[in-house]
Amino acid sequence: MRIVVIGSGYVGLVSATCFAEMGHHVVCVDRDAERIARLRDGEVPIHEPGLEPLLLRNHQQGRLHFAQTLRPVLTNIDLCFIAVGTPSAPDGSADTSQVLAVAEELGRWLPQRCVVVNKSTAPVGTAERIERTIARGLTQREAGFTVPVVSNPEFLREGCAVEDFMRPDRVIIGCADDQARQTMEALYAPFLRKQPRLMVMGRREAEMSKYAANAMLATRISFMNEMASLCEQLGVDIEKVRLGVGSDSRIGYDFLYAGCGYGGSCFPKDVRALIHTAQRHGLPSHILQAVEERNTIQKAGLFVKLQQQLGALDGRTIAVWGLAFKPGTDDVREAPALQLIASLLEAGAVVQAHDPVATASVLRCVPAHWLTSGQLVLHAQDPYAVLDDADALVIPTEWKPFRQPDWQRVRGLLRQPVVIDGRNLYDPAQMQALGFHYSSFGRPSVTAGDMQRQAA
Ligand code: UDX
Repeated sequence: MRIVVIGSGYVGLVSATCFAEMGHHVVCVDRDAERIARLRDGEVPIHEPGLEPLLLRNHQQGRLHFAQTLRPVLTNIDLCFIAVGTPSAPDGSADTSQVLAVAEELGRWLPQRCVVVNKSTAPVGTAERIERTIARGLTQREAGFTVPVVSNPEFLREGCAVEDFMRPDRVIIGCADDQARQTMEALYAPFLRKQPRLMVMGRREAEMSKYAANAMLATRISFMNEMASLCEQLGVDIEKVRLGVGSDSRIGYDFLYAGCGYGGSCFPKDVRALIHTAQRHGLPSHILQAVEERNTIQKAGLFVKLQQQLGALDGRTIAVWGLAFKPGTDDVREAPALQLIASLLEAGAVVQAHDPVATASVLRCVPAHWLTSGQLVLHAQDPYAVLDDADALVIPTEWKPFRQPDWQRVRGLLRQPVVIDGRNLYDPAQMQALGFHYSSFGRPSVTAGDMQRQAA
Protein backbone atom coordinates (compact mmCIF):
# COMPACT_ATOMS: atom_id res chain seq x y z
CA MET A 1 0.00 0.00 0.00
CA ARG A 2 0.99 3.62 -0.36
CA ILE A 3 0.79 5.36 2.99
CA VAL A 4 1.28 8.91 4.23
CA VAL A 5 1.89 9.50 7.93
CA ILE A 6 1.47 13.10 9.09
CA GLY A 7 3.59 13.88 12.16
CA SER A 8 7.06 12.62 13.01
CA GLY A 9 6.76 12.41 16.79
CA TYR A 10 6.91 9.13 18.70
CA VAL A 11 3.71 7.74 17.25
CA GLY A 12 4.17 9.04 13.69
CA LEU A 13 7.79 8.03 13.28
CA VAL A 14 7.38 4.59 14.82
CA SER A 15 4.21 3.87 12.79
CA ALA A 16 5.79 5.08 9.53
CA THR A 17 8.92 2.98 10.11
CA CYS A 18 7.03 -0.17 11.07
CA PHE A 19 4.63 0.09 8.11
CA ALA A 20 7.65 0.51 5.81
CA GLU A 21 9.25 -2.52 7.44
CA MET A 22 6.18 -4.54 6.38
CA GLY A 23 6.90 -3.61 2.76
CA HIS A 24 4.65 -0.59 2.27
CA HIS A 25 5.70 2.62 0.56
CA VAL A 26 5.54 5.27 3.29
CA VAL A 27 6.05 9.03 3.34
CA CYS A 28 6.31 10.65 6.76
CA VAL A 29 5.39 14.34 6.63
CA ASP A 30 6.22 17.02 9.18
CA ARG A 31 5.99 20.80 8.81
CA ASP A 32 9.18 21.12 10.91
CA ALA A 33 11.75 21.62 8.12
CA GLU A 34 14.76 21.05 10.36
CA ARG A 35 13.37 17.76 11.66
CA ILE A 36 12.72 16.55 8.10
CA ALA A 37 16.22 17.58 6.99
CA ARG A 38 17.73 15.64 9.90
CA LEU A 39 15.63 12.57 9.11
CA ARG A 40 16.68 12.70 5.46
CA ASP A 41 20.29 12.80 6.64
CA GLY A 42 19.65 9.65 8.61
CA GLU A 43 19.49 11.36 11.99
CA VAL A 44 16.73 10.01 14.24
CA PRO A 45 15.42 12.86 16.43
CA ILE A 46 14.14 10.71 19.31
CA HIS A 47 15.76 8.07 21.49
CA GLU A 48 13.72 4.92 21.00
CA PRO A 49 15.38 1.51 21.28
CA GLY A 50 15.51 -0.33 17.94
CA LEU A 51 14.07 2.54 15.92
CA GLU A 52 17.27 3.88 14.36
CA PRO A 53 18.49 0.79 12.47
CA LEU A 54 14.97 0.00 11.26
CA LEU A 55 14.35 3.55 10.09
CA LEU A 56 17.72 3.86 8.35
CA ARG A 57 17.38 0.54 6.56
CA ASN A 58 13.89 1.32 5.25
CA HIS A 59 14.98 4.81 4.24
CA GLN A 60 18.04 3.47 2.39
CA GLN A 61 15.99 0.77 0.68
CA GLY A 62 13.55 3.38 -0.62
CA ARG A 63 10.41 2.39 1.26
CA LEU A 64 10.47 5.24 3.79
CA HIS A 65 10.60 8.87 2.71
CA PHE A 66 10.36 12.20 4.50
CA ALA A 67 8.63 15.35 3.27
CA GLN A 68 7.83 18.78 4.60
CA THR A 69 4.79 19.60 2.47
CA LEU A 70 1.68 17.51 2.31
CA ARG A 71 0.12 18.33 -1.03
CA PRO A 72 2.69 16.71 -3.35
CA VAL A 73 2.68 13.39 -1.49
CA LEU A 74 -1.10 12.81 -1.47
CA THR A 75 -1.39 11.49 -5.04
CA ASN A 76 -2.39 7.83 -5.38
CA ILE A 77 -2.22 7.01 -1.69
CA ASP A 78 -4.35 4.33 -0.03
CA LEU A 79 -4.06 5.51 3.55
CA CYS A 80 -3.30 8.75 5.34
CA PHE A 81 -2.50 8.60 9.07
CA ILE A 82 -2.81 11.64 11.31
CA ALA A 83 -0.30 11.45 14.18
CA VAL A 84 0.13 15.04 15.34
CA GLY A 85 0.14 16.43 18.86
CA THR A 86 -2.95 17.00 20.99
CA PRO A 87 -1.35 18.84 23.93
CA SER A 88 -3.16 19.99 27.05
CA ALA A 89 -4.85 23.38 26.60
CA PRO A 90 -4.64 25.73 29.62
CA ASP A 91 -8.08 24.51 30.81
CA GLY A 92 -6.93 20.86 30.71
CA SER A 93 -8.85 19.93 27.55
CA ALA A 94 -7.05 18.28 24.63
CA ASP A 95 -6.10 20.91 22.07
CA THR A 96 -7.13 19.36 18.74
CA SER A 97 -6.23 22.37 16.60
CA GLN A 98 -3.33 20.59 14.89
CA VAL A 99 -5.52 17.60 14.01
CA LEU A 100 -8.24 19.81 12.57
CA ALA A 101 -5.71 21.91 10.63
CA VAL A 102 -4.51 18.70 8.98
CA ALA A 103 -8.13 17.79 8.17
CA GLU A 104 -8.58 21.20 6.50
CA GLU A 105 -5.50 20.58 4.38
CA LEU A 106 -6.67 17.11 3.39
CA GLY A 107 -10.05 18.54 2.36
CA ARG A 108 -8.28 21.12 0.25
CA TRP A 109 -5.71 18.88 -1.43
CA LEU A 110 -6.67 15.19 -1.49
CA PRO A 111 -6.83 14.31 -5.20
CA GLN A 112 -8.62 10.97 -4.74
CA ARG A 113 -10.42 8.83 -2.20
CA CYS A 114 -8.25 7.25 0.47
CA VAL A 115 -8.79 6.10 4.04
CA VAL A 116 -7.87 8.76 6.60
CA VAL A 117 -6.89 7.32 9.97
CA ASN A 118 -6.62 9.32 13.16
CA LYS A 119 -3.95 8.01 15.54
CA SER A 120 -3.65 11.17 17.63
CA THR A 121 -5.28 10.77 21.04
CA ALA A 122 -8.29 13.04 20.75
CA PRO A 123 -11.66 13.42 22.48
CA VAL A 124 -14.72 11.39 21.54
CA GLY A 125 -16.23 12.79 18.36
CA THR A 126 -12.92 13.92 16.81
CA ALA A 127 -12.94 11.33 13.99
CA GLU A 128 -16.42 12.55 13.04
CA ARG A 129 -15.19 16.17 13.12
CA ILE A 130 -12.23 15.29 10.92
CA GLU A 131 -14.57 13.57 8.46
CA ARG A 132 -16.91 16.59 8.36
CA THR A 133 -14.00 18.99 7.92
CA ILE A 134 -12.56 17.00 5.01
CA ALA A 135 -16.04 16.61 3.45
CA ARG A 136 -16.55 20.38 3.58
CA GLY A 137 -13.33 20.91 1.63
CA LEU A 138 -14.22 18.25 -0.92
CA THR A 139 -17.69 19.74 -1.47
CA GLN A 140 -16.28 23.23 -1.93
CA ARG A 141 -14.10 22.08 -4.80
CA GLU A 142 -16.67 19.59 -6.12
CA ALA A 143 -14.21 16.76 -5.82
CA GLY A 144 -16.74 14.02 -6.59
CA PHE A 145 -15.56 11.47 -4.02
CA THR A 146 -15.85 10.92 -0.27
CA VAL A 147 -13.21 10.18 2.34
CA PRO A 148 -13.94 7.83 5.26
CA VAL A 149 -12.22 8.58 8.56
CA VAL A 150 -11.20 5.79 10.92
CA SER A 151 -10.11 6.07 14.55
CA ASN A 152 -7.12 3.84 15.32
CA PRO A 153 -5.76 4.73 18.78
CA GLU A 154 -2.13 3.91 19.48
CA PHE A 155 -1.18 2.09 22.67
CA LEU A 156 2.60 1.99 22.29
CA ARG A 157 4.82 2.77 25.27
CA GLU A 158 7.86 4.98 24.88
CA GLY A 159 11.03 2.98 25.41
CA CYS A 160 9.50 -0.13 23.81
CA ALA A 161 7.52 1.54 21.04
CA VAL A 162 8.91 -0.52 18.15
CA GLU A 163 8.29 -3.78 19.97
CA ASP A 164 4.76 -2.66 20.95
CA PHE A 165 3.98 -1.63 17.37
CA MET A 166 5.33 -4.78 15.76
CA ARG A 167 3.63 -7.10 18.29
CA PRO A 168 0.64 -5.23 19.67
CA ASP A 169 -1.59 -6.61 22.47
CA ARG A 170 -4.50 -5.57 20.34
CA VAL A 171 -5.39 -3.23 17.50
CA ILE A 172 -8.55 -1.15 17.82
CA ILE A 173 -10.28 0.08 14.70
CA GLY A 174 -13.13 2.53 15.09
CA CYS A 175 -14.87 2.53 11.78
CA ALA A 176 -18.17 3.37 10.06
CA ASP A 177 -17.22 2.31 6.52
CA ASP A 178 -16.95 -1.28 5.31
CA GLN A 179 -14.30 -0.72 2.68
CA ALA A 180 -12.16 1.25 5.13
CA ARG A 181 -12.47 -1.58 7.66
CA GLN A 182 -11.23 -4.10 5.08
CA THR A 183 -8.23 -1.89 4.25
CA MET A 184 -7.35 -1.59 7.94
CA GLU A 185 -7.71 -5.33 8.51
CA ALA A 186 -5.37 -6.03 5.60
CA LEU A 187 -2.85 -3.46 6.83
CA TYR A 188 -2.65 -4.89 10.34
CA ALA A 189 -2.84 -8.61 9.51
CA PRO A 190 0.98 -9.10 9.44
CA PHE A 191 1.34 -7.43 12.84
CA LEU A 192 -1.20 -9.78 14.39
CA ARG A 193 0.07 -13.16 13.25
CA LYS A 194 0.84 -14.32 16.78
CA GLN A 195 -2.06 -12.68 18.52
CA PRO A 196 -4.94 -12.02 16.15
CA ARG A 197 -6.68 -9.43 18.29
CA LEU A 198 -8.14 -6.82 16.01
CA MET A 199 -11.24 -5.21 17.41
CA VAL A 200 -13.65 -3.30 15.24
CA MET A 201 -16.01 -0.90 16.97
CA GLY A 202 -17.60 2.49 16.53
CA ARG A 203 -15.29 5.47 16.20
CA ARG A 204 -16.50 7.05 19.44
CA GLU A 205 -15.93 3.77 21.29
CA ALA A 206 -12.39 3.52 19.89
CA GLU A 207 -11.62 7.08 20.99
CA MET A 208 -13.05 6.44 24.45
CA SER A 209 -11.13 3.15 24.76
CA LYS A 210 -7.82 4.98 24.49
CA TYR A 211 -8.69 7.49 27.21
CA ALA A 212 -10.22 4.86 29.47
CA ALA A 213 -7.17 2.57 29.11
CA ASN A 214 -4.72 5.34 30.02
CA ALA A 215 -6.95 6.57 32.85
CA MET A 216 -7.21 3.02 34.22
CA LEU A 217 -3.42 2.58 34.21
CA ALA A 218 -2.90 5.99 35.83
CA THR A 219 -5.54 5.05 38.42
CA ARG A 220 -3.71 1.85 39.33
CA ILE A 221 -0.51 3.82 39.86
CA SER A 222 -2.16 6.54 41.96
CA PHE A 223 -4.05 3.92 43.94
CA MET A 224 -0.82 2.11 44.78
CA ASN A 225 0.85 5.41 45.62
CA GLU A 226 -1.93 6.12 48.10
CA MET A 227 -1.49 2.66 49.60
CA ALA A 228 2.26 3.39 49.77
CA SER A 229 1.70 6.52 51.88
CA LEU A 230 -0.40 4.50 54.26
CA CYS A 231 2.22 1.75 54.35
CA GLU A 232 4.87 4.31 55.36
CA GLN A 233 2.75 5.35 58.33
CA LEU A 234 1.98 1.78 59.33
CA GLY A 235 5.53 0.46 59.00
CA VAL A 236 4.47 -1.83 56.16
CA ASP A 237 6.51 -2.58 53.01
CA ILE A 238 4.51 -1.70 49.85
CA GLU A 239 6.71 -4.01 47.75
CA LYS A 240 5.44 -7.03 49.69
CA VAL A 241 1.90 -5.70 49.44
CA ARG A 242 2.34 -5.28 45.67
CA LEU A 243 3.20 -8.96 45.35
CA GLY A 244 0.29 -9.96 47.55
CA VAL A 245 -2.15 -7.86 45.54
CA GLY A 246 -0.74 -8.57 42.07
CA SER A 247 -0.84 -12.34 42.54
CA ASP A 248 -4.63 -12.16 42.34
CA SER A 249 -5.19 -13.13 38.70
CA ARG A 250 -8.07 -10.65 38.52
CA ILE A 251 -5.62 -7.84 39.31
CA GLY A 252 -2.24 -8.87 37.85
CA TYR A 253 1.20 -7.42 38.56
CA ASP A 254 1.47 -4.66 35.95
CA PHE A 255 1.32 -0.96 36.81
CA LEU A 256 1.32 -1.51 40.55
CA TYR A 257 4.70 0.09 41.20
CA ALA A 258 4.60 2.86 43.79
CA GLY A 259 7.07 5.68 43.40
CA CYS A 260 7.51 9.36 42.67
CA GLY A 261 4.52 9.49 40.31
CA TYR A 262 3.77 9.13 36.64
CA GLY A 263 4.92 11.55 33.95
CA GLY A 264 5.23 11.46 30.17
CA SER A 265 3.27 12.73 27.24
CA CYS A 266 0.14 10.62 27.80
CA PHE A 267 -1.09 9.88 31.32
CA PRO A 268 -1.05 13.42 32.75
CA LYS A 269 -2.53 14.97 29.61
CA ASP A 270 -5.13 12.27 29.00
CA VAL A 271 -6.38 12.19 32.60
CA ARG A 272 -6.77 15.97 32.52
CA ALA A 273 -8.58 15.83 29.17
CA LEU A 274 -11.02 13.23 30.48
CA ILE A 275 -11.72 15.32 33.58
CA HIS A 276 -12.41 18.26 31.29
CA THR A 277 -14.78 16.19 29.13
CA ALA A 278 -16.68 15.06 32.23
CA GLN A 279 -16.95 18.64 33.46
CA ARG A 280 -18.21 19.81 30.10
CA HIS A 281 -21.03 17.32 30.41
CA GLY A 282 -21.82 18.39 33.96
CA LEU A 283 -20.58 15.13 35.44
CA PRO A 284 -18.43 14.84 38.55
CA SER A 285 -15.16 12.97 38.03
CA HIS A 286 -14.26 12.07 41.60
CA ILE A 287 -11.92 9.23 40.70
CA LEU A 288 -10.00 11.00 37.95
CA GLN A 289 -9.57 14.15 40.06
CA ALA A 290 -8.19 12.02 42.87
CA VAL A 291 -5.82 10.22 40.47
CA GLU A 292 -4.45 13.56 39.31
CA GLU A 293 -4.22 15.04 42.82
CA ARG A 294 -2.47 11.95 44.16
CA ASN A 295 0.08 12.20 41.35
CA THR A 296 0.76 15.86 42.13
CA ILE A 297 1.44 14.95 45.77
CA GLN A 298 3.60 12.04 44.68
CA LYS A 299 5.78 14.12 42.37
CA ALA A 300 6.43 16.58 45.19
CA GLY A 301 7.41 13.62 47.39
CA LEU A 302 11.07 13.57 46.34
CA PHE A 303 11.52 17.13 47.55
CA VAL A 304 9.60 16.50 50.78
CA LYS A 305 11.67 13.41 51.59
CA LEU A 306 14.87 15.36 50.95
CA GLN A 307 13.74 18.07 53.35
CA GLN A 308 12.94 15.41 55.94
CA GLN A 309 16.48 14.08 55.63
CA LEU A 310 18.43 17.32 55.28
CA GLY A 311 16.25 20.08 56.72
CA ALA A 312 16.60 23.40 54.85
CA LEU A 313 17.89 22.90 51.32
CA ASP A 314 19.29 26.38 50.77
CA GLY A 315 22.99 26.11 49.89
CA ARG A 316 22.86 22.32 49.55
CA THR A 317 24.17 20.42 46.54
CA ILE A 318 21.90 17.63 45.36
CA ALA A 319 22.87 14.86 42.93
CA VAL A 320 20.12 13.50 40.67
CA TRP A 321 20.27 10.22 38.75
CA GLY A 322 17.65 10.08 36.00
CA LEU A 323 15.86 12.93 34.21
CA ALA A 324 13.65 11.11 31.68
CA PHE A 325 10.07 10.39 32.82
CA LYS A 326 10.93 6.70 32.63
CA PRO A 327 13.86 4.55 31.46
CA GLY A 328 14.45 3.84 27.78
CA THR A 329 13.47 7.28 26.53
CA ASP A 330 14.90 10.81 26.28
CA ASP A 331 11.44 12.28 26.88
CA VAL A 332 11.30 14.59 29.89
CA ARG A 333 7.71 15.80 29.50
CA GLU A 334 6.07 16.06 32.95
CA ALA A 335 9.01 14.13 34.39
CA PRO A 336 9.14 14.01 38.22
CA ALA A 337 12.86 14.89 37.97
CA LEU A 338 12.13 18.25 36.34
CA GLN A 339 9.64 19.21 39.03
CA LEU A 340 12.17 18.24 41.69
CA ILE A 341 14.90 20.33 40.05
CA ALA A 342 12.60 23.37 39.79
CA SER A 343 11.74 23.09 43.51
CA LEU A 344 15.38 22.61 44.51
CA LEU A 345 16.60 25.61 42.54
CA GLU A 346 13.82 27.72 43.99
CA ALA A 347 14.89 26.61 47.47
CA GLY A 348 18.44 27.79 46.74
CA ALA A 349 20.09 24.41 46.14
CA VAL A 350 22.54 23.47 43.40
CA VAL A 351 21.67 20.41 41.31
CA GLN A 352 24.17 18.09 39.61
CA ALA A 353 22.19 15.73 37.39
CA HIS A 354 22.98 12.73 35.24
CA ASP A 355 20.89 10.88 32.67
CA PRO A 356 22.29 8.45 30.10
CA VAL A 357 20.19 9.90 27.22
CA ALA A 358 17.95 12.79 28.33
CA THR A 359 20.36 15.64 29.16
CA ALA A 360 19.96 17.11 25.66
CA SER A 361 16.16 17.16 26.09
CA VAL A 362 16.57 18.97 29.41
CA LEU A 363 18.87 21.54 27.80
CA ARG A 364 16.13 22.28 25.26
CA CYS A 365 13.33 22.83 27.75
CA VAL A 366 14.64 24.44 30.94
CA PRO A 367 15.22 28.21 31.43
CA ALA A 368 18.72 29.06 30.18
CA HIS A 369 19.64 30.88 33.41
CA TRP A 370 19.39 27.62 35.36
CA LEU A 371 22.47 26.51 33.46
CA THR A 372 24.30 29.80 33.00
CA SER A 373 24.02 30.57 36.72
CA GLY A 374 25.67 27.24 37.49
CA GLN A 375 22.66 26.18 39.61
CA LEU A 376 22.03 23.21 37.34
CA VAL A 377 24.95 21.14 36.07
CA LEU A 378 24.29 18.25 33.67
CA HIS A 379 26.47 15.21 33.03
CA ALA A 380 25.55 12.80 30.24
CA GLN A 381 28.39 10.34 30.66
CA ASP A 382 29.32 9.48 34.19
CA PRO A 383 26.76 9.03 37.00
CA TYR A 384 29.49 9.18 39.61
CA ALA A 385 30.66 12.62 38.41
CA VAL A 386 27.53 14.25 39.82
CA LEU A 387 28.07 12.83 43.33
CA ASP A 388 31.15 14.86 44.11
CA ASP A 389 30.49 16.90 47.26
CA ALA A 390 26.73 16.41 47.04
CA ASP A 391 24.65 16.32 50.22
CA ALA A 392 22.32 13.65 48.87
CA LEU A 393 21.58 11.44 45.87
CA VAL A 394 18.01 11.39 44.49
CA ILE A 395 16.88 8.80 41.93
CA PRO A 396 13.70 9.70 40.02
CA THR A 397 14.20 7.27 37.07
CA GLU A 398 14.99 3.56 37.24
CA TRP A 399 17.60 3.29 34.46
CA LYS A 400 19.23 -0.17 34.56
CA PRO A 401 22.80 1.07 35.32
CA PHE A 402 21.44 2.54 38.58
CA ARG A 403 20.24 -0.83 39.83
CA GLN A 404 23.52 -2.06 41.24
CA PRO A 405 25.81 0.91 41.71
CA ASP A 406 29.19 0.78 43.41
CA TRP A 407 27.89 1.85 46.81
CA GLN A 408 31.35 2.20 48.34
CA ARG A 409 32.19 4.69 45.64
CA VAL A 410 28.88 6.49 46.08
CA ARG A 411 29.46 6.63 49.84
CA GLY A 412 32.97 7.97 49.34
CA LEU A 413 31.90 10.75 46.98
CA LEU A 414 28.78 12.01 48.77
CA ARG A 415 29.30 14.61 51.49
CA GLN A 416 26.43 13.00 53.39
CA PRO A 417 25.21 9.42 53.00
CA VAL A 418 21.64 10.34 52.05
CA VAL A 419 19.81 8.48 49.24
CA ILE A 420 16.22 9.24 48.17
CA ASP A 421 14.93 6.50 45.90
CA GLY A 422 11.92 7.46 43.77
CA ARG A 423 11.47 3.95 42.34
CA ASN A 424 12.08 1.55 45.27
CA LEU A 425 15.17 0.06 43.65
CA TYR A 426 17.10 -0.99 46.74
CA ASP A 427 16.59 -3.03 49.88
CA PRO A 428 16.26 -0.69 52.89
CA ALA A 429 18.03 -3.10 55.25
CA GLN A 430 20.98 -3.39 52.87
CA MET A 431 21.16 0.38 52.44
CA GLN A 432 21.22 0.76 56.18
CA ALA A 433 23.96 -1.83 56.47
CA LEU A 434 25.93 0.08 53.83
CA GLY A 435 25.73 3.18 55.98
CA PHE A 436 23.07 5.20 54.19
CA HIS A 437 20.12 7.23 55.39
CA TYR A 438 17.65 5.92 52.88
CA SER A 439 14.09 6.96 51.96
CA SER A 440 11.91 5.33 49.35
CA PHE A 441 8.15 5.26 48.67
CA GLY A 442 5.86 3.08 50.75
CA ARG A 443 8.58 1.66 52.94
CA PRO A 444 9.87 2.90 56.28
CA SER A 445 12.89 5.21 55.96
CA VAL A 446 16.06 3.82 57.48
CA THR A 447 18.81 5.70 59.24
CA ALA A 448 22.39 4.52 59.39
CA GLY A 449 22.83 4.64 63.16
CA ASP A 450 26.61 4.86 63.11
CA MET A 451 26.74 7.82 60.75
CA GLN A 452 27.52 11.29 61.90
CA ARG A 453 25.32 13.90 60.23
CA GLN A 454 27.37 16.84 59.12
CA ALA A 455 26.04 20.33 58.65
CA ALA A 456 26.30 21.56 55.09
C1 UDX B 1 1.56 5.15 28.28
C2 UDX B 1 0.73 3.88 28.01
O1 UDX B 1 1.33 2.78 28.71
C3 UDX B 1 0.64 3.62 26.51
O2 UDX B 1 -0.21 2.51 26.27
C4 UDX B 1 0.08 4.85 25.81
O3 UDX B 1 0.04 4.67 24.43
C5 UDX B 1 0.90 6.09 26.16
O4 UDX B 1 1.00 6.24 27.58
P1 UDX B 1 4.16 5.76 28.28
O5 UDX B 1 3.71 7.14 28.67
O6 UDX B 1 5.16 5.61 27.21
O7 UDX B 1 2.89 4.88 27.83
O8 UDX B 1 4.78 5.08 29.61
P2 UDX B 1 4.35 3.98 30.68
O9 UDX B 1 5.33 2.89 30.65
O10 UDX B 1 2.94 3.62 30.61
O11 UDX B 1 4.63 4.79 32.04
C6 UDX B 1 3.97 6.02 32.32
C7 UDX B 1 4.43 6.59 33.66
O12 UDX B 1 3.92 5.80 34.73
C8 UDX B 1 5.95 6.62 33.85
O13 UDX B 1 6.30 7.85 34.45
C9 UDX B 1 6.23 5.47 34.80
O14 UDX B 1 7.37 5.68 35.60
C10 UDX B 1 4.95 5.48 35.65
N1 UDX B 1 4.64 4.18 36.25
C11 UDX B 1 4.35 3.11 35.45
C12 UDX B 1 4.58 4.04 37.64
O15 UDX B 1 4.81 5.00 38.39
N2 UDX B 1 4.23 2.83 38.18
C13 UDX B 1 3.93 1.74 37.40
O16 UDX B 1 3.62 0.70 37.98
C14 UDX B 1 4.01 1.89 35.99
